[in-house]
Amino acid sequence: MEKSYLKLLENNKTWAALQKNNDPEFFIELTKGQTPDYLWIGCSDSRVPANQITGTKPGEMFVHRNIANMVVHSDMNLLSVLSYAVDVLKVKHIIVCGHYGCGGILAAMGNKQYGLIDNWLRHIKDVYIYHHAELDNIKDKEKRVRRFVELNIVEQVHDLGKTSIVQNAWKSEQPLHIHGWVYDTADGEIIDLGVTFTCTKDLHSVYHLENED
Ligand code: CO
Repeated sequence: MEKSYLKLLENNKTWAALQKNNDPEFFIELTKGQTPDYLWIGCSDSRVPANQITGTKPGEMFVHRNIANMVVHSDMNLLSVLSYAVDVLKVKHIIVCGHYGCGGILAAMGNKQYGLIDNWLRHIKDVYIYHHAELDNIKDKEKRVRRFVELNIVEQVHDLGKTSIVQNAWKSEQPLHIHGWVYDTADGEIIDLGVTFTCTKDLHSVYHLENED
């Protein structure tokens, strides 16, 4: 068995020493706690490392990643991260960042069976169906995939806004903006898709949640 993982531990030693050298207070400050301004919801894809591509340091970004950056409202993992980020950490921005060339999106557009993951891909297929009129009309396969990547991100931003967690934050006038971005694995650049939600009125009224009282 090859031991490439040992390199990671070596790298870590070098990295930790460098940080301490550059700033002796670096880790001391981080032990006091975290106050990140951002929650990142991104794809698990190894080519899209949240901190690296945004130039953020440890302590600056709370991160949740899954296949195809999905906001599934029955996903206890996502909901727990979202609740902690919004209710406790009081992040100011939530960024859903997808990426061109997303394997999850490609798989969801196809018909091949992959096993258990098909259950996850179903959520993505459902997004396709919402937008099938537009997507079916794009004859060029590559363009259709790219557009689906973008539409899926927009849909996940909507799905975030539909959660009681985000709506309650808005109701209590907690500053919270949610954004949809797409990362291009071909050139390393992020494009803002311009779907920034800042309050409940950005959503269709059927999703508006009232207080119980
Ligand atoms: Co992906």
